[in-house]
Amino acid sequence: MSKRTVLTGITTSGSPHLGNYVGAIKPCVQASHSMDVRSCYFLADYHALIKCRDPERVHQSTLEIAATWLALGLDTDRAIFYRQSDIPEITELTWLLTCVTAKGLMNRAHAYKAAVQENIEADEDPDFGIAMGLFSYPILMAADILMFNAHDVPVGKDQVQHLEMARVIGQRFNHHFGELFVLPEAIIDENVALLPGQDGRKMSKSYNNTIPLWLPEKKLRKAIMKIVTNSLEPGEPKQTADSALYSIYSAFANDQQRGEMKQAFADGIAWGAAKQQCFELINLELATARSHYEALMAEPERIEQQLRAGARKAREIATPFLAQLREAVGIRSLG
Ligand code: TRP
Repeated sequence: MSKRTVLTGITTSGSPHLGNYVGAIKPCVQASHSMDVRSCYFLADYHALIKCRDPERVHQSTLEIAATWLALGLDTDRAIFYRQSDIPEITELTWLLTCVTAKGLMNRAHAYKAAVQENIEADEDPDFGIAMGLFSYPILMAADILMFNAHDVPVGKDQVQHLEMARVIGQRFNHHFGELFVLPEAIIDENVALLPGQDGRKMSKSYNNTIPLWLPEKKLRKAIMKIVTNSLEPGEPKQTADSALYSIYSAFANDQQRGEMKQAFADGIAWGAAKQQCFELINLELATARSHYEALMAEPERIEQQLRAGARKAREIATPFLAQLREAVGIRSLG
């Protein structure tokens, strides 16, 4: 029996934070050690260009994200870890898919619709400032997924519509040209609760409440000390529900530690003491990987080599498959 393929992409437009780590990176790195699946993880640098026109930022983010996954122990013997832009087959496939994608389907994409809505509200032309990249983004994402015949695609809830679109596009291609693509499914891990940020809302770059993953020890401690709590004094019992501090602690704790912290809250632990414990727990989990990360960042050439090796593996799949797809649509040798 052939293995299921799990695939996901990370847009390279920012620096990794604790929310990314808990919600995506850690589970994927763990899954990369599994014998039972073929996992494909990639740096979606073409996606980064849709929202970011700062070349330095795209470059730096690509470096940081690659170093992060490697430092955390991604198994690059088992998993295929590559940079989207190293696989020219993906952009070629994007065009093949663009030619079967209904414009009306793209009109319904949330990200595009939201941008149009904003323009209308601002009394602008509906398409003001909207690039074709934003409009066609779901097709590029479909190509990422269909290229490797991924079965399962772990993503956040905001990406579910894009997965649905990838299915529709794949189905349409299959209908015209034969059963060539596996239709992918979104995998949303309900157990991975959204990590709150320092202000208690979801940890997200857009709320400016993130804790960067690779802060040096002292700064990490400072950032954790800034998590909002309330004015309850030491000795007063505290609630774990709705406590950002408790949620963040929990995301790193085992069952026993979680139980003990719950008890400490009930017993009225001082906020400062609870924060100190939270810092120690997170720091313990990250300290070793942090030194790997720093070593990798000092030698970007090693990262580049890893990505090139990953691209070779990815293209062993993509090159023959694209040849088959071109053949199917009638782009063939005339000889
Ligand atoms: N668009 C995704 C995001 O912003 C990233 C991404 C690009 C992706 N291509 C993908 C995720 C393919 C899963 C599969 O989160």
